[in-house]
Amino acid sequence: MDLIDMLLQGHERLRGSLKTLDEMLGRPSGVGWDDRTTLDRTRFSLQLGVFLATFKAHEAVERAYLSRIVRQIGLDPELDAAVDEGHRSLEEMLRLFSAVATSYDGDHVYRLRTVLSQLSAELERHLIFEETQVFPRLRESLPAGLLRELGRRAGPRRRAGLKAGARRPSAAGRK
Ligand SMILES: [Fe+2]
Ligand SMILES: [Fe+2]
Repeated sequence: MDLIDMLLQGHERLRGSLKTLDEMLGRPSGVGWDDRTTLDRTRFSLQLGVFLATFKAHEAVERAYLSRIVRQIGLDPELDAAVDEGHRSLEEMLRLFSAVATSYDGDHVYRLRTVLSQLSAELERHLIFEETQVFPRLRESLPAGLLRELGRRAGPRRRAGLKAGARRPSAAGRK
C-alpha cells in the first residue's frame, strides 16, 4: 500500500471512530436536551481513547512523512503552511474536547455534544483539505515507486502509534 492510500485509509478510520462517538452522544427522540441517563460513560471513554489513539497515530505518520515531503519537494509554501496550521488547530480542538470529555461528570451531555460537533466539523474540513489539495498534488509530483516505499516505511510507525495509544488511552490526546 502506498503512503497516500495508507493515509486515506486512516481518514476513513478517523471518520468511523468519530461517528461512533457521535452516535453514543446522539439524543434519542422524546428525551430532554440533557438526557444524562442515556450515556454509558465507560464505553464512551473507551471509545474516546480509540479515537484519540487513531488520530495520534495518523498525525504522527503525516508529520514524519507527509509534511516533510511537502517541504522537501518545495510543493508550495502556502500549502505547506496550511497543512501545519490545519494540524495545529485540530490538535487544539482535540485538547478542548478531551478536557471536556475527561472532566465530564455525568451531567450536561449537551456540552459534550456541542464540542463534539465542532470537532467533527474541524476534522472533516482538515481531511477534505488533505484529500483534495495535498494528496492529489503529491501523486502528481512523486513517482509511484517512492510513494510505495514511503508507505512501507510508514506502516510500522503507524502500528506502533496505535499500540502506544491503546496502552495509554487517557494520555493519547496530549502532546
Ligand atoms: Fe492531517
Ligand atoms: Fe490526514
